[in-house]
Amino acid sequence: MNRLIIIGASGHGKVVADIAALNGYKDIVFLDDDETVKECAGYPVVGKSAEAPEGEIFVAVGNAETRQRLMTNYKDREQPVLIHPSAVVAKNVQIGSGSVVMAGAVINPGAIIGKGCIINTSSSVDHDCIIDDFCHISVGAHLAGTVTVGECTWIGTGVTVSNNVNICGGCMIGAGAVVIKDISISGTYIGVPAKIKN
Ligand SMILES: CC(C)(COP(=O)(O)OP(=O)(O)OC[C@H]1O[C@@H](n2cnc3c(N)ncnc32)[C@H](O)[C@@H]1OP(=O)(O)O)[C@@H](O)C(=O)NCCC(=O)NCCS
Repeated sequence: MNRLIIIGASGHGKVVADIAALNGYKDIVFLDDDETVKECAGYPVVGKSAEAPEGEIFVAVGNAETRQRLMTNYKDREQPVLIHPSAVVAKNVQIGSGSVVMAGAVINPGAIIGKGCIINTSSSVDHDCIIDDFCHISVGAHLAGTVTVGECTWIGTGVTVSNNVNICGGCMIGAGAVVIKDISISGTYIGVPAKIKN
């Protein structure tokens, strides 16, 4: 198996490294632009984000736009999909490169997940959902069937989205919100039911 270079020596990077090791990667190194960070989860930081040595790349950065920029910079490199062994991913699910599916997550049949997405711990994406590129479905968030989520949208921890709801790109759905209607204007939404945050 190739060397895996993880960009972003953060808490998120730590979880990604754990999943990579469980996926069989033995040679794992990190890149980070903070020169004071020397290691992450026991793996060495060997340079900055623009200085990747040979190997596959995984961008483990929470900010969607930064994740998108770094993934694009390394578009000619292999960027694997990492899936924790305890995640349940149905057979006919599509997952784009550079996405990670964390422990206990469930992705049901017909779902399409774009590239550079984070399907975080114990979240669920139900049948026929379409999650566009660079989205983050946070810890414990639940998307019912046939939900669509636009590019770079961040669904916060513990959010619930009702079936057939469409959420446009560039949104932040605050922790614990319940989205019961389509959201077509980018912005931050909070509460039950979710409303735009002033
Ligand atoms: C929505 C969010 C981005 C707002 O952050 P912010 O702009 O810094 O907001 P503030 O903390 O300044 O709060 C502003 C007001 O909104 C309220 N508020 C903030 N987040 C809220 C939420 N999720 N639900 C309900 N109310 C919320 C605050 O109570 C505060 O109300 P007040 O003015 O009456 O005191 C943030 O609170 C949030 O929910 N982030 C998601 C974190 C997350 O899910 N992480 C996942 C890791 S896997």
